[in-house]
Amino acid sequence: MDEVEISFPDEGREGVVPVGTYLIDAAKRLGVSVPDCASEESHGCGIIIKKGAELFSTPTEAEKEQLGADSRDGTARLACYAKIEKPGEIIAMAKKKSEPAEEAKTEEREETYRKEFTELPLEKKIANLVHLEAIALSETFAFVINSPFKVFEKVGDVLAEFGFKKEEEEKRKARPAENGASDAKSSSKKQKASPSGEKNEQPNPPTT
Ligand code: FES
Repeated sequence: MDEVEISFPDEGREGVVPVGTYLIDAAKRLGVSVPDCASEESHGCGIIIKKGAELFSTPTEAEKEQLGADSRDGTARLACYAKIEKPGEIIAMAKKKSEPAEEAKTEEREETYRKEFTELPLEKKIANLVHLEAIALSETFAFVINSPFKVFEKVGDVLAEFGFKKEEEEKRKARPAENGASDAKSSSKKQKASPSGEKNEQPNPPTT
């Protein structure tokens, strides 16, 4: 059976797997931890292929969607989808490389929104701005309304802590006197019971 040498230098792992193995299984077999799907649209198993991209199956639609441009030349793959189809050598890196793709998506969304906004007629632009301002205002009001409760809560905590400390201090001050008194009491009891340190035993009454 044809085999592939695969290594993850950053993780210090390397080994040999048979052709036909999925990248996720190869990584797991070598002890490389690969994150799971964060959601149906966000896959955590993105792996960078530094060498041997041509040995894998063609990138799937899911990979193209998730990894963007990097998936086209095969330098980034979703380990669950990428199957090793040819023998050779693969060097890979199991980093969270899906994060930059996620950032790129956010930037893409922002850019689209900017474009759409620019193309809107003036009255729609104003309506959008008013709508956004209303959202910002309602969030500000919610913050202002909740703030006093948070302040009172904090003051309550501080006072409770202060009261507790004071009580502890008073207890501490009172403690030596109490201990001294109880020590004196117990020692006087001991002295009464046995002035010479021996047991005071009552003589038995004479029997007739
Ligand atoms: S983690 Fe979702 S497909 Fe691999």
